[in-house]
Amino acid sequence: MVIDSIKARRTVRDFTEDLVSNSALELMIEAATWAPNHRTTEPWRFIVLEKDGDMRKKVGQIVHDWTYENVKNPNSARRETSAKDAQQEILDAPAFIYVYSVEGRDDEMTRENYSATSCAVQNLMLAAQSLGIGVGWSTGKPCLAPIDTTIGAEPDWDIVGALYIGYPSDSEENKSERKRTPANEITIWS
Ligand SMILES: Cc1cc2nc3c(=O)[nH]c(=O)nc-3n(C[C@H](O)[C@H](O)[C@H](O)COP(=O)(O)O)c2cc1C
Repeated sequence: MVIDSIKARRTVRDFTEDLVSNSALELMIEAATWAPNHRTTEPWRFIVLEKDGDMRKKVGQIVHDWTYENVKNPNSARRETSAKDAQQEILDAPAFIYVYSVEGRDDEMTRENYSATSCAVQNLMLAAQSLGIGVGWSTGKPCLAPIDTTIGAEPDWDIVGALYIGYPSDSEENKSERKRTPANEITIWS
């Protein structure tokens, strides 16, 4: 049942060192492209930063520098620790993908495109899960840092997220229970 997969999906940020094959990544991106999209704009764009590749290293450095400058902590040693942690997480992720949504003809289309790309990410995560692969979707430091031009994103693309991808480790964090409010508490039937 699809609902079982949906309920079993978890955000994962702790990975084993096993690499994720390109064919698995291709399958996940293909699943993403089957998301609903109004007017068939197919607004999603994916930028895969290869493990140990120069681009991954460049992005790690940009995120490091941005974090050091922007993290709200007066203590420079702590800022450096945060910066190094953010950089290392990017370098360590077995796979790392940026997802963008293209601008529409007007605000309404741009909004629709962004929604469709969010659906695409969910498809990607569910496909990953079916392969035993975990994904952590971030809109934090790797997206806030000025990486767009470096990685080749077009100026009119809007960033939707950075995806840390890999095989889940046995960590407590990965095993922690996530909860949801019962649907009837957030639904109005009228
Ligand atoms: C649009 C979006 C942005 C997110 N950004 C972050 C992020 O920057 N950092 C983070 O740790 N988790 C981020 N998450 C993951 C959520 O924190 C996570 O989905 C939530 O804790 C629920 O856990 P679950 O996905 O395992 O159900 C993001 C999720 C979404 C949908």
